[in-house]
Amino acid sequence: MSEQEIKVPDLGGADEVEVIEITVSKGDSVAEEDPILTVESDKASVELPSPSAGKITKITVKVGDKVKEGDVVGMMEVESGAQTGDESGGSDESQNDADEKPEKPEPEKAEASESKSDDAESKPKKASSGGGARKEKVQVPDMGGSEDVPIIEINVKEGDEVAEDDPLVTVESDKATMEIPSPFAGKIGKILVSEGDKISQGDDLLEMQVTGGESGEDVSDTDEKPEAPASQESSTSAPKQEKQPAKEERQAAPEPELPPAGTKVHAGPAVRKLARELGADLTRIKGSGPKSRIVKDDIHAYVKQQLHRTQEAGAGGGAVTGGSGIPGIKLPDFSQFGDIQRESMSRMQVATANNMARSWLNVPHVTQFDDADITEMENFRKAQKAAGEKRGSKLTPLPFLLKACARALAELPQFNVALDMEKKEIVHKNYIHIGVAVDTPAGLMVPVIRNVDQKGLWELADEAMELAGKARDKKLKPNEMQGACFSITSLGGIGGTAFTPIVNAPEIAILGVSKAAMKPVWDGKEFQPRLILPLSLSYDHRAVNGADAARFTALLSELLGDIRHLLL
Ligand code: COA
Repeated sequence: MSEQEIKVPDLGGADEVEVIEITVSKGDSVAEEDPILTVESDKASVELPSPSAGKITKITVKVGDKVKEGDVVGMMEVESGAQTGDESGGSDESQNDADEKPEKPEPEKAEASESKSDDAESKPKKASSGGGARKEKVQVPDMGGSEDVPIIEINVKEGDEVAEDDPLVTVESDKATMEIPSPFAGKIGKILVSEGDKISQGDDLLEMQVTGGESGEDVSDTDEKPEAPASQESSTSAPKQEKQPAKEERQAAPEPELPPAGTKVHAGPAVRKLARELGADLTRIKGSGPKSRIVKDDIHAYVKQQLHRTQEAGAGGGAVTGGSGIPGIKLPDFSQFGDIQRESMSRMQVATANNMARSWLNVPHVTQFDDADITEMENFRKAQKAAGEKRGSKLTPLPFLLKACARALAELPQFNVALDMEKKEIVHKNYIHIGVAVDTPAGLMVPVIRNVDQKGLWELADEAMELAGKARDKKLKPNEMQGACFSITSLGGIGGTAFTPIVNAPEIAILGVSKAAMKPVWDGKEFQPRLILPLSLSYDHRAVNGADAARFTALLSELLGDIRHLLL
């Protein structure tokens, strides 16, 4: 056994390349040419092969390090007398038979041609179609000597506008992934290749309409020839991220799943660059390309999904993903059970669904139930009917509820707060604005009545009627739905005996009102028929304790039971 240095081989003229992945660890047994690490230049990612078969004893670089030809990246133990492929620095090792040297990484050839050669061979060939003056046929340039290299991704589609140097197709040989850049700025015409096709220098790639610059004839014979793949040193050739995917199935890239642990990342340089720019961890992205190669759409889909999750989680949850890290609910194919139709949710339905889920997931809810004897209140209310008609107003139980809640909020100010959990502060509000849930054909809306404590019953009745009308006619302005301290949701006109409303966070409580019903109430001597109004107070248990909630509903019950108390 002898120890051998693992050195960076000739990189085909590329000065420094970055280590983007280390594929082995100390103690790993490797075969000759097994990849040791992956390096990346502007345009190509390359696997550096093991010079011999043996056991890795040390890796002396880490991801992010810059290396150049001849740098030692690790050590390995090899069988004495074993062949070494370290042609660049293994001077103390036995000389290699040229035939047994591991192949140089492919891109070195590509990059060698790019950076050193100016000869026409290294440029992508462009032949004038002979038709329109600006129509060009783009041909495969010199790929560092590689022939029959499979196309793994077509980065453009017919009709795309591309800048010069934008990647047209990505090819992958055994050892390297390269992008073939556009020699012109212009519009992509017919694409003459497909994914999986094996291409060689001179093959027709696609047609394009060149915008500006020289005509086909002129360009193909001037010095302004585009460079070979992997030859762009500037990063201006970075592809446009918004570019449409080449294939339809990519456009509807599936929600990315996590690849199995230990899966090797296959991705081209532009994809890796995009991942770095967006901070996406490639090991967490499942590739949808051939051989599970990660393509740009996988990154976009992944980032989109992560953003969606974060937003939903930040919002406290969402109808789709469940938010807060809770796995979403997978829908079955309902059509297997019977006929179905699908329709888009309105923006309001989506907003309501998100708000409900957000509140429900963020707020520890408790609901306190109570009854109010509103027999006398109803007598009074009905007695106002004629007066109401005269004024053009209608006195429903709602204005009484508003007034009673305003009073309860004033007497129990722990309900008139918001919790600022970020700053660990309680925000006390010195105003009493109350939201009223209104059922509209378009969905639930909650207009806000301001300074309820300062208004009389008629005024509240009129305002509630006006706002409910505006809500139903979709005429509410955003500021008419903001600023509530507390909400009332009344299902009294419809029915039910109790329910558990969801707090309209950041408010900390909401009163649900069900349908009043005549009930026999024991007065100590006999049962009396009394009109009983069911109350359901949901509250944020972080802000309010159960005793306070019971005090709140008891106070409401007292105020509604004898509305003269509202005057005190
Ligand atoms: N018990 C018995 N009857 C009640 C009642 C109650 N708790 N509340 C109202 N009523 C009666 C009213 O007095 C009226 O009867 P009348 O015409 O004989 O006087 C009838 O029910 C209809 O009242 P309504 O038009 O609903 O007026 P309101 O002032 O009580 O309510 C709104 C106004 C806007 C709150 C109401 O129309 C509404 O949209 N409620 C639904 C809210 C909702 O969907 N919440 C669910 C949120 S998850």
